[in-house]
Amino acid sequence: MRLLITGSNGLLGSNLVRFFQGRGVYDVFATSRHPSYLPELKNFARGDLLDAVFVNQVISTVKPDIIINTVGPADVDKCERGPEFAYTLTVQTAENVAQSAQHYGSRLIYISTDHLFDGRRSMYLEDDEPVPVNVYGKMKLQAEAKTLAVNLNTVIARTNFYGWSPRRHPTTFGEWIYDSLKRPIPINLFTDYYFTPLEVTHLAEALEIVANSELTGVINIASCQRCSKYDFGIALAKVFGLDPSPICPGTINAVSFKAKRQRDLSLSTEKFKRIFNQNLPGLQEGLQRFCENMKVKP
Ligand SMILES: NC(=O)c1ccc[n+]([C@@H]2O[C@H](COP(=O)([O-])OP(=O)(O)OC[C@H]3O[C@@H](n4cnc5c(N)ncnc54)[C@H](OP(=O)(O)O)[C@@H]3O)[C@@H](O)[C@H]2O)c1
Repeated sequence: MRLLITGSNGLLGSNLVRFFQGRGVYDVFATSRHPSYLPELKNFARGDLLDAVFVNQVISTVKPDIIINTVGPADVDKCERGPEFAYTLTVQTAENVAQSAQHYGSRLIYISTDHLFDGRRSMYLEDDEPVPVNVYGKMKLQAEAKTLAVNLNTVIARTNFYGWSPRRHPTTFGEWIYDSLKRPIPINLFTDYYFTPLEVTHLAEALEIVANSELTGVINIASCQRCSKYDFGIALAKVFGLDPSPICPGTINAVSFKAKRQRDLSLSTEKFKRIFNQNLPGLQEGLQRFCENMKVKP
């Protein structure tokens, strides 16, 4: 099976490359805007997904059975400051990939987000009406719609994840907590901001199941357990055997962000469980994997 991963220098993309190459049954191809951060990656094309000619060139040459499109912004406040930037990086790149995938007959998985709801409730279902409250969420919703409209063989994977990123990548959420505890330096984590974060290699395993199925449409791929950012930090400290005292409980009300934040991003994973007869991992299992993966980070 030929697999194309876009955004292979990213947190998710780099872990997907590692995971799928390691399985030994996939021909893995990858793209990113900058030269590859991953020395073990052989089939790599450098280019910008905003360039439809580049996208068509890659997809027509590789002829992937499956494309996992991870490209999109990860900085919610940067999107708020630059809606134009957010639109091009999110919606235009998604549309270029979807059009080309449809043309060359590739199955497509588009990586979406948990930022699509207003956070007044919790454990959102795939059928719940999206009410994005910031530019990032609005753009991801548009990218979902374009992708689904253009490519019939599409899965939209709504998620939130943490894990080890490549060495040259900016520090990600889980890494920041770990680094702060290790040094140690005090950090604030919110007790009133909830999410369902999945460890990134658990996400890769779930995406493999989805890729090999005939599912189309929207599916949540998240931790089966909701927790606050504070709970996440305390549990992380415990798993790594680190002193949790640098973590101070904070409230989201005390911080003013450029982009509006919802209090609850949590996603229900009942649909995944129903279709694939399998529970997605919870917080403890995820952090255990995060700890084990420290030695093999991309
Ligand atoms: N991180 C989270 O918890 C989270 C939660 C929910 C959803 N998501 C979504 O998951 C996806 C992946 O997130 P991530 O955290 O892995 O992102 P990331 O670490 O920022 O990686 C993004 C990747 O996309 C590449 N890229 C950016 N612009 C590009 C362009 N115009 N053309 C080609 N490649 C481009 C970057 O390449 P270079 O580095 O080579 O420039 C990088 O490899 C995003 O769509 C994000 O919206 C993330």
